[in-house]
Amino acid sequence: MNNLLKTYKFSNFRVVKGNGCYLYTSDKRKLLDFSAGVAVNSLGYNHPVIKNSLKAQLKTGITHLSGSQIHEFKTKLSKLLSDNSNKGDVFFSNSGAESIEAALKIARNYGSKNGKDEIIAMTSSFHGRTIGALSVGSNKKYKSNIGPVPGKVKFCKFNDVSHLKKLVNKKTVAIIIEFVQGDGGINICSKNFAKAIKGICKNKKILLIGDEIQGGIGRTGKIFAYKHYGVNPDIITSAKGLGSGIPIGATIVKKYISKIISTGFHGSTFGGGMLQTRVSYNVFKTINTIRFLNKVLINGNLLSSLIKKMHHLHKDKIVDTRCLGLMAGVEFKNNQIALKTYEKMSKNGLISTLIQGNIIRLTPPLIVSSGEIRKAIKIITQSL
Ligand SMILES: Cc1ncc(COP(=O)(O)O)c(C=O)c1O
Repeated sequence: MNNLLKTYKFSNFRVVKGNGCYLYTSDKRKLLDFSAGVAVNSLGYNHPVIKNSLKAQLKTGITHLSGSQIHEFKTKLSKLLSDNSNKGDVFFSNSGAESIEAALKIARNYGSKNGKDEIIAMTSSFHGRTIGALSVGSNKKYKSNIGPVPGKVKFCKFNDVSHLKKLVNKKTVAIIIEFVQGDGGINICSKNFAKAIKGICKNKKILLIGDEIQGGIGRTGKIFAYKHYGVNPDIITSAKGLGSGIPIGATIVKKYISKIISTGFHGSTFGGGMLQTRVSYNVFKTINTIRFLNKVLINGNLLSSLIKKMHHLHKDKIVDTRCLGLMAGVEFKNNQIALKTYEKMSKNGLISTLIQGNIIRLTPPLIVSSGEIRKAIKIITQSL
């Protein structure tokens, strides 16, 4: 018994320690973590970059400064994010949903100047649990019984170019997309769909919002998932792996949009604090190297080929596998088989996440080794 609101189905083990890709429990179990706090702990546990950043921050005696106060890491991280994406200006917040809220406000504000107020989002999308973020998320379960969420949102069938063309009109201000859908089932955007979005946004002067909260910061083998597609979003949202466990959100906004934003338009008490920007700056620098990202791609290819092989051998239980970099989904025939396998995997020492009822999501720390990937596949196969 505890006093926690029952918004989660809580684990039946208590974690006391972490190291690399492993978690250790109070009953002395060692668990291989292929959830990584749901695609957050990009550098795994006990990583020197995080530890040293925290130590250095302690030396300053500062845990918090107000949003208006400027400091070294706020400016350095904003430049790093900007230089490595759309060259825009950055608004810092504390979570993925908050970075989405900022993106939606900024896009709607931009559209209000020329009478545009419709947003196109995707089916199977997820952008967070706040009311604004829910408005562009497709899962009806998440927004039932809470009264109205903001309207003027249309949902396009993911990867369906002709449907997208039908939905676009003079009122469309923005298209929001995860290039690899996380919560929706590890659905990978097709090159053709991305190309169509690019063309439509350019021709109709529609803003492209790339939600990089789960797929960004090296998760797919590129620093941002959109870089697989030759597009350049006008607004980019980031969180999760950016802090590798320290809460942070960032919304990167191209200059032609950010220039119309005035003081007081938006804010966040904790956003852009010295602690989280210092850690994130060092995390980003560590991940954004050719060597690190190539290793993610190589290990991602290994993970992809091993789950494909597993699919081939277990066609009675598995219906599909999808993977880009270290973001993978194994889709089961039905919810029952998925749940049973998921629970057995946990008993056998492998942590993952179960999404959409029938898909097991694998998002290990980006520092995972090929040996640990093989070990995870062995555990899944045993559990099947
Ligand atoms: C693509 C995407 N967008 C937004 C969010 C919301 O992030 P947060 O839980 O930090 O608010 C998530 C979280 O899972 C996500 O995967």
